[in-house]
Amino acid sequence: MSHSIADLEQRARRYLPRVLYDWIAGGAEDEIGLRSSTRIYTEHRLVPRYGRAVTTPNLATRLFGRTYGRPFGIAPTGYTGLCRPGGESMLRAAAARVDIPYVLSGVSVPSLEAIAAEEPGRSWFQVYPARDHAITLDIVRRARDAGYATLVVTMDMPKEAKRERDWRNGFSLPLRFNLQRLVDGMTHPAWALRFLATGGLPTLGTWQAYLPAGTAPMEVLRFHTEQGYPVVTWEHLADFRALWPGQMVVKGLLHPDDVATALRIGADGVILSNHGGRQLDRAPTTLEMLPRVREKVGPTVPIMLDGGIRRGSDIAIALALGADFVFCGRAILWGVIADARAGADQAIDILTDELVRVMCQTGTDSVRAFTRDSLL
Ligand SMILES: Cc1cc2nc3c(=O)[nH]c(=O)nc-3n(C[C@H](O)[C@H](O)[C@H](O)COP(=O)(O)O)c2cc1C
Repeated sequence: MSHSIADLEQRARRYLPRVLYDWIAGGAEDEIGLRSSTRIYTEHRLVPRYGRAVTTPNLATRLFGRTYGRPFGIAPTGYTGLCRPGGESMLRAAAARVDIPYVLSGVSVPSLEAIAAEEPGRSWFQVYPARDHAITLDIVRRARDAGYATLVVTMDMPKEAKRERDWRNGFSLPLRFNLQRLVDGMTHPAWALRFLATGGLPTLGTWQAYLPAGTAPMEVLRFHTEQGYPVVTWEHLADFRALWPGQMVVKGLLHPDDVATALRIGADGVILSNHGGRQLDRAPTTLEMLPRVREKVGPTVPIMLDGGIRRGSDIAIALALGADFVFCGRAILWGVIADARAGADQAIDILTDELVRVMCQTGTDSVRAFTRDSLL
């Protein structure tokens, strides 16, 4: 029985081969950014308020002219289907159950068309630009034609990060992907049996289209690696804007001036992110940058953030400091890995339940009612 996200992480840890657990849990270099992303939330205090009769607080959250069921969504995580076969579909369905956004990663196992077909028009799509700009433009067009609601452009990977856990484990996705190492992980038979039963190494569905039919998964991974880590410029962003009729969100920015530039080019909102501490180890946390960004862009621009959210109180603190919405990466990923669809539901329910308790304790009847006054 899991009572917390930490419990789900422990279950996922037991299920996964070490190399995969470390790949997900880890960050860049000394993991200072990773640790500070969770620690920063513990440094804030929510001030309880009583006598207001808040019993069933309203979690409905307006974003981009639509109402979502919770103030949080599921951040894009690559290769989910490698860790839990079918994981992308499970996360999509878990998000649909409570009406929150699921952001499909640009490096998903199923193709972007396959996930869109499951429930047209509801998921968001995250694009990892390719070195070949024509491929990126084609992926953006495909996402548009498949009917995705929102495009998320990730800008914080201009260079492969130094993730030393992976290097020590001889594992780096996808560049040094080493099947032998995974098979060494057979001390985790539940994962290994499922891995083998679903055909071994899965392919990257969206990227398969740029290679001849029947190309082996390993070759698709290699191709994607060759196309990886391009510098995404503001000019590229303008190109995506010209192609994309719906909402366009930029993910991975931290500097207020970068946010302002993205908005000027036509982004409809941003997800402040340090990629869960996985790229620039000494980057500030998103929570530290949030007030600065809010001050720069004003109260009405949708500013979202991710990184380090493990409790309902973390969500409350982010909202109190000016976020319109937050995204959870590992928190819900641990759930789907630990126990498939039920685990994803459970992670969402744990965060929801904790947030409701915070709202009752702080006399906050709706998510919009969190303000700086909610904090000490
Ligand atoms: C295993 C893993 C894979 C990720 N893959 C992607 C990805 O494909 N695209 C992307 O934009 N961000 C990716 N991220 C970053 C997440 O979207 C998000 O920014 C980060 O996980 C937030 O931190 P949290 O895990 O503490 O919530 C990944 C993160 C993890 C942990």
